[in-house]
This record gives sequence, C-alpha cells and structure tokens, in this order.
Amino acid sequence: MAILWDQKNKVFSLNTKNTTYQMKIDKFGFLLHTYYGEKINNDASYLIVNQDRGFSGNPYDAENDRTYSLDVLPQEYPFYGSGDYRTTAFDVIDSNNTSGCDLRFESYEIIQGKYALSGLPASYSENNKAMTLVVNLIDNRLNLKVQLYYGVFEDEDVITRAAKIINNSDKTITLSKALTANLDFLTGDFDLIHFHGRHAGERTMERTHIEHGSFSIGSRRGTSSHQHNPFVILAERDTTEHFGNCFGMSFVYSGNFECTAEKDQYGQTRIAMGVLSERFNYALEPNESFLAPEVIMIHSNSGFESLSHKYHNIIRHNICRGEYKLKRRPILINNWEATYFDFDGEKLFNIAKQASELGVEMMVLDDGWFGSRDDDNQALGDWWVNEKKLQGTLKEVSERICSLGMKFGLWIEPEMVNENSDLYRNHPDWAFVIPNKKPIRSRNQLVLDFSRKEVVDYICESIFKVIDDAKISYIKMDMNRSISDVYSAVKGNPSEGKILYHYMLGVYDFMERLLTRYPNLLLEGCSGGGGRFDAGMMYYSPQIWCSDNTDAISRLHIQYGTSFGYPISTVGSHVSTVPNHQTGRVVDFNTRGIVAMAGSFGYELDLNLISDDEKEEVKKQIEDYKKYWHLLHNGKYYRLTNCEEDNQKTAWQFVSEDKSEALVQVVKCDTHCNAPAEYIKLRGLDADVAYELDGNLYYGSTLMNAGLPVDAMNGEYKAYKIHLVAKR
Ligand code: DGJ
Repeated sequence: MAILWDQKNKVFSLNTKNTTYQMKIDKFGFLLHTYYGEKINNDASYLIVNQDRGFSGNPYDAENDRTYSLDVLPQEYPFYGSGDYRTTAFDVIDSNNTSGCDLRFESYEIIQGKYALSGLPASYSENNKAMTLVVNLIDNRLNLKVQLYYGVFEDEDVITRAAKIINNSDKTITLSKALTANLDFLTGDFDLIHFHGRHAGERTMERTHIEHGSFSIGSRRGTSSHQHNPFVILAERDTTEHFGNCFGMSFVYSGNFECTAEKDQYGQTRIAMGVLSERFNYALEPNESFLAPEVIMIHSNSGFESLSHKYHNIIRHNICRGEYKLKRRPILINNWEATYFDFDGEKLFNIAKQASELGVEMMVLDDGWFGSRDDDNQALGDWWVNEKKLQGTLKEVSERICSLGMKFGLWIEPEMVNENSDLYRNHPDWAFVIPNKKPIRSRNQLVLDFSRKEVVDYICESIFKVIDDAKISYIKMDMNRSISDVYSAVKGNPSEGKILYHYMLGVYDFMERLLTRYPNLLLEGCSGGGGRFDAGMMYYSPQIWCSDNTDAISRLHIQYGTSFGYPISTVGSHVSTVPNHQTGRVVDFNTRGIVAMAGSFGYELDLNLISDDEKEEVKKQIEDYKKYWHLLHNGKYYRLTNCEEDNQKTAWQFVSEDKSEALVQVVKCDTHCNAPAEYIKLRGLDADVAYELDGNLYYGSTLMNAGLPVDAMNGEYKAYKIHLVAKR
C-alpha cells in the first residue's frame, strides 16, 4: 500500500518504490514530520529527542513539560503562533488584526487516484494508480480549516503536496502566508542547488551551503522568472551526480514564488516552498478558500542523475498533456531571428519554401503579423491580422504555406497591451496601472489584468477568431515583461498577492480554453525565452522556448541547468545564424545542430542565406533528428560532464529504455596546441553487453568504467556524436 495509516501510533507513511515519507499526529494533535528518505519500516518518531531548550516556548497542553517545543520539533505544516520562530509555512491575520493560529489534526481521508486542483495545473494519474491522502487540520478559534493534500505515485517515486485553506467563519481572515510544502530534517548538512539567471542566460546551476540562518530564492516579477527557477534540490554536502542523498522540490506554478532553506539553532534544516508571501495578504472571505499550488517532491539516494530521471519521467508522463505529449513534434522554422518585424507575405513564403525543400515541417510566424505592429512599441492587444503587411489574409498565407506540405504556426502575447493600441484606447482600465501613478513600462508595454474574467474573455474571443479563420497547428505564447503596478480596477481592491494569484489563474484559464477549443494544437510556452520555464506551464505546453539566447555555447550552460529538473522534450531549441545575434559568436553549423537537437528541434534563420554545403547539413540534421528522436525524447538523459566546472568540453548521452542503443553528443569548448588527452565515461549502458562503435566492439562495462577518449578536434567549438548499438 502506498499510503499506510498506523492507528495505534498515529503515523501516516507514504511509500513509493524506493522512498518513505512519514508524519505523525502527536499527543497534542500537532502534525509532526518524522521522516523523508530511502524506504524504512518503523515509526521514525523515536528519533526525536526532547530536551528543555531555553527560549523555546511550550504549548499550553504540555503543562509543566518544558521539553516539548514546536520551536525544535520537525513539522509538516509549521504555522506562526505555535512558538516556532523558524521560517513558517503558514500565517494568518484575523479580523482583529491579530496574528497567530493553532492548527490541530481533525481527520484524514485516503482516496484511490490523484487529487486535482481546480483552475491550477497539477500532476495527474491517467490509470488512477496514484493515491491521495488528505489531512485536515483545524483552528477552532478562527474556524479555519487547512487541508493538506498528498499525492503518492508509487512506481515513479514521487510525492506531491498541495493545500486548501478554507474560511469557515463569518469574518474575513487574511492569509499573510500560505506556502505549499515544508520539509524538516533533524540531521544532515545540506547545500541548496538552485538555478539562477537572467534574460538570455537562464537556469545556471549554483550550489549554496545552508549555514545557520536562512537562504531564500524566489520571484516577485509575477512570473516564475528568468532570475530564479521554481525548482530546487536540497542535497547532502557529499552528494554528486551519481552519489548521495538529495531532495527535489518542483513548484507546479508559474507566478511569484518563494523557497527558503534554513539551518536552525540546533543544526536542523528546514526547506519550504510556495506562493510568495511578500505583499500576499490574501483576504479570505467567509466560505472562501485558497488553493496552494502543487509541489512535486522526489528523493534520490544516488545523486542528481537519478533525481533528474525521475523528474523527467513525471513531468513528461504526468504533467504534460495533449496530442504532442509523447509524439515527435514537427521540426519547425521560426522567422523571428530571420526577419524580426521586417517581413511581408512573400518573404515569409520564401523562407518557408526553402525550409520545406530541406525537410523542415512547420513554419512559425512570430511577432509582427497583427495591428500596426511594425516594431515592439505598439499594437499588442490588437489581435486582428495586418493583411496589408501579409499581402493577403492569414487564411491565404497559412494555406499557401501548408500547400508546401508544411504545418503553420503563429505567435501571440495575450497578456500584454501597448498604450498605442485600440485595445488600450478603448479599455485603459484593463491594464495594470495604479491611479495617479505613472506605470513602469517595459518593452514599452503594460500588462493586462488577467485576474478579471471579462479581460480573459475578450482576449480569448479575439485570438480564437484569428485561429478559426486560418490553418493553425501551433501557437507560441509569449510574455515579455515582469509585472508591476499591480492594481485591479475591480470592487474591493484586493491585495497585490491576491491579484497576481488570480492573474495566474486567468492565464491558466486562457490556455485551458485554447486547448479545449483546439485539442490538436501544439502550444509552445515562452516568456522572453525561458522566463516561465516551469512545471506549471508544462501542463499546457509540452515545450517551452528555453532561452532567447540561441548561441550554441551559451545554450550548453542553459540546457545543462535546465536538464536537472525538466525533460529534454520540453526544451525548445533552434539552430540560428552566425555571428550569433545575441553574443556575436561564430560556431560551426554542425555544433549548432548537435546542441539544438538536445531539445525540441527547429531553425531560426533564413535558410535561403546559407551555403549549399550548409543546406546539405540541414538535410542531414533533419534526417538525424528523425532517426534519433526516439532516443532524444524517449531515452534516458545523462549528463557526462559538469558544464559549470569543465570548460574544455561538454558531453551528454541518451540511452534507450532497453539499453540497446545510445547516442553520445560532445562539444569541445576550448582548443589547445599539444593538449592533454581527455576522456568521458559513458553511463546507463548494459555492463555485460558489447556495443558496436566504428566497427569495434566495446562492453558497456568498459565504456562506463574506462571510458572513451574525446576526439582531438582542431578548431573552436567543434562537436560530434557517437551512436552505439548493442550486439546481443
Ligand atoms: C521574445 C521571444 O522569446 C522571441 O523568441 C520572440 O518571439 C520575441 N519575443 C518576439 O517579440
């Protein structure tokens, strides 16, 4: 059984194939967290050592027992008011403006199947095999209920958490903090692995030791952000790629978030994740509830590699949805870097024609096709086709491109508005603008108030009309600024946190309506590249434009960091021109192809402008992508080098599920005269099976333990691939 309830000891054990997650209702009804890690069989609460700790208060129930303090005990959902002075997960302000609550166990329910979260993305279990535990906590004074949800995916080694807060009183209660998940560790010395970045430089891995005090990452930008990804790993200090204990937390949410890791006065570690509590102040009216979005937790006792495999698996199979969830996506060409705003119907057709002759399967028309959008200062919100610029209707343009045997895709940015647009002129109150304050502009655009249904309705209506009138198989949904000036011109003037949470619900609603109306549509997420690259978006878009930086060498770092928490199939990755538009770097066509292939593959340049030799390379790359797609997207992904430490080479590998085939890709990042030899050790092969390489046979054991020499290639940024096939 995945969920065990030990009535005698009042212990819940959530068991997956390899892990146990345990909590206990103690003698006073507090919910303690007793264990998370490799599978165990005992009630782990014997590990808790109670001592009289100075300045750590005792709940009244403990009477004269000074050894009982929630300031020290490991807890499941720590709340302010319990005498716990560490980072808490939950904090409320009652109608008398007083903070402090008292949550005690009330009841529980075990349900076959996985809970869903209305209006929010969450993992799902198609075969209903996953199980749900609901633990109800109650504060009797406030008449407030906290439902903790746990999803248990036994075979996948995944535990998910979410929470619902319900105000059963007749007064308004303000949630000043309502995080989703908290983990407490009695022992261990930990690092936090987090993925920071910036526009065009997302998800750079960084490892920070958790010292006494707390360390936080998060986003205040309204999106999950380029700056900090909502995926982290708490790892014991000796944990490496292939060794050691680590715990992942992935937030299935695309808006503001926080994640805090703290080492307390006794060296115990706490980590908590959820919606950002700064300016949150979510007013819960009587009978109103708040859903804290899901966190997906995975433990690995054998390092980051196996943790990543488990995240890849759950996101690919239990988060992503739709026709293209597991199917090969069309190889696309996008006109953005080829033309920017400078195009017309004929130019687009010529790009598509050349691309189709070389084997590209879909043409994506990026920004600039609507309203008066000839630059990025105007027209967002005016979702009508600029037929003059396109030299025809979108139906004509799309049909002409489809007549080449291609599919056709379109770019949109539904959440935005320019002041120079008909939409803004007609509905200035639909944008986030604070009365009597000039708003912060970014890319000269403002943000539409997607927390309001009428705004989402209008945008749906105008964009659906465009899609209905043309032949569209794919939508790239962009979002190009951080949110500011959060003010909703609706009655009641909610807090910034409440507006932004409902804003995200509006964005999710938009995508859900889009996918319901066009069930075969491929939706690619984007926020100036990877500014909203999170598991929440992946529920709607199985691929996300990974970064606006298309430089293959920059992409090595970005894609390396991304690979820790997200499957390769989600990584939108294109071959672009050189010198690269973002970095000015010149990299081989072959290298650009190899790096882009470790993702959802496409092109982002005018293929009319490349040499005949390069055109032949395009044909070969497309052939290769089709040939190796089953490995690239369905195989297991192994990082063979640490991209942040090894500045000589970056190598990675894909291995088929049955280990009969593998693809190794290597990029040389530096070049030297008379250089020392370099080696890579392969992973994931069958040790006892021989694999054929260049006519020679090498056992898996040899390739994994002795390795292979890296080709000594002369010249900068060269790359190559090795395809290994088992000879059984
Ligand atoms: C930012 C995106 O990331 C680019 O790929 C492109 O679509 C531009 N926006 C268009 O404005």
